[in-house]
Amino acid sequence: LCHHWSLLLMTQCAFLIPSGSEAGEAAEYDPNLLDDPQWPCGKHKRVLIFASYMTTVIEYVKPSDLKKDMNETFREKFPHIKLTLSKIRSLKREMRNLSEECSLEPVTVSMAYVYFEKLVLQGKLNKQNRKLCAGACVLLAAKISSDLRKHEVKHLIDKLEERFRFNRRDLIGFEFTVLVALELALYLPENQVLPHYRRLTQQS
Ligand SMILES: *[C@@H]1O[C@H](CO)[C@@H](O)[C@H](O)[C@H]1NC(C)=O
Ligand SMILES: *[C@@H]1O[C@H](CO)[C@@H](O)[C@H](O)[C@H]1NC(C)=O
Repeated sequence: LCHHWSLLLMTQCAFLIPSGSEAGEAAEYDPNLLDDPQWPCGKHKRVLIFASYMTTVIEYVKPSDLKKDMNETFREKFPHIKLTLSKIRSLKREMRNLSEECSLEPVTVSMAYVYFEKLVLQGKLNKQNRKLCAGACVLLAAKISSDLRKHEVKHLIDKLEERFRFNRRDLIGFEFTVLVALELALYLPENQVLPHYRRLTQQS
């Protein structure tokens, strides 16, 4: 148990120490950055000079090349982010899936996405904390945006625990860590939430 707690403590401390590149300046959060549909084709697009050829050429790019390119382009642009773009997107899909299964509203998912992406862009996430982080963002968004009853919160925590395979004590501890990393700014301006909300409600 001791070992377990000290590990958690280490994870939390690392989380709160500014990671070089973002120390000092808090860049303006861009809600379209990580969901930009142009991303996967970034490199190929630059090669294409004639717009009319674009569709044809993109069809010839193998999906595996597209994925590789996407991860690479992403890594080049954001060297301080330790996860690949595919991984980030798959975590977001899980956050959404789980939220929908717990009947949370799209606006709650949108807020969870904003918290999550801010932490991603700050370079806070790594292999060890990524699921705790995704879970804590959903939990915080649910608490702040929905009028959850006690048993509903419990149900959500059960689901998060089951899906992301952490235990609830870690989640509760990490929730506070995330709150601090977000500088307690859980109420978000509309322009940060709305783009996510639109994408979520248009996709389905
Ligand atoms: C991109 O990264 C993901 C892991 O997040 C990996 O599953 C995928 O294979 C990578 N794509 C390529 C082609 O390297
Ligand atoms: C969540 O994912 C599971 C397995 O991939 C799927 O069966 C289920 O329908 C999804 N639920 C929602 C609400 O998307």
